[in-house]
Amino acid sequence: MSKLPSINQNLITSQDTPLSTEAYKAIVDLVYQHSRIKLGADKQALLSSRLGKRLRHLKLASFDEYCDLLRSHSSQVEIDELIDLISTNHTRFYREPDHFEFLTEKILAELLPELTAKRSALRIWSAASSSGEEPYTLSIVLSEFFRSHPSIDWHIWASDISKTILETAKQGIYRMEVVEPVPADILKRYFQKGVDSQEGKCRVKAELRKKVQFERVNLFQNEYPIPHNQNVIFCRNVMIYFDIPSRELAVKRLTRYLAPGGYLIIGHSESLMGIQHNLKTVRQGVYQMP
Ligand SMILES: C[S@@+](CC[C@H](N)C(=O)[O-])C[C@H]1O[C@@H](n2cnc3c(N)ncnc32)[C@H](O)[C@@H]1O
Repeated sequence: MSKLPSINQNLITSQDTPLSTEAYKAIVDLVYQHSRIKLGADKQALLSSRLGKRLRHLKLASFDEYCDLLRSHSSQVEIDELIDLISTNHTRFYREPDHFEFLTEKILAELLPELTAKRSALRIWSAASSSGEEPYTLSIVLSEFFRSHPSIDWHIWASDISKTILETAKQGIYRMEVVEPVPADILKRYFQKGVDSQEGKCRVKAELRKKVQFERVNLFQNEYPIPHNQNVIFCRNVMIYFDIPSRELAVKRLTRYLAPGGYLIIGHSESLMGIQHNLKTVRQGVYQMP
């Protein structure tokens, strides 16, 4: 669910303040420094369009003034706003469905005897969860799987760098067209239809929402507020925004939170090629701790 329009030169209206190459480079550096998101030279028009409104809101006359604000001592709030505005939050329910099939058919089937014997809870972390479709899909998949194994407990953590998108995710309210990929029987079981002012929307039921704990996490912070020994970490469709050294760093930090034998799952268009890691490749996009 993308919150912002895609690159379109026509979006630059006469209202837009010109963004000089110097100011663009300064913003790109600040974004990289704080999130490791690497904006290419081709994103200048997009950035100008996305930030123009913010400048008007702050009553700033130029991007130079905006850069001064970003560099000032009390800039963290504005940096957060900037990251919110530039991040791409596109996601959907059941995105890359083979990962969810692999989760149930291989990972959960394999873990079931151990979880039963040790009476331990399953832990899964959606590490760039955007507006919540991925962690709620996980929640649905686990609810369905554990219906026939009700004694096993499970938890999902979901995190993102963007404060705004996390607030949307926590609400668990989606337009009907967003839940189109959800099978009708599942929709009926786990979602409530909106009425009156919520007409045309639906909400993930409380029983499913309470299984997902949301936390704000920048993948590049030193420690994460997430329990260690995760059985599976989904970190999909975010590495594409990072350069190779940043991917390596993110994978190094994430793997510290995996249980022995735990899995790291990345997006279809991503790979760990060219980076050093200690994970075993299981199949395209699926890696396992030894
Ligand atoms: C394209 S969405 C992917 C959502 C979901 N994982 C999926 O595959 O559908 C990428 C998400 O990564 C988040 N993100 C970008 N940089 C991040 C960082 N440094 N740490 C944590 N999250 C980040 C963005 O805010 C965005 O919500």
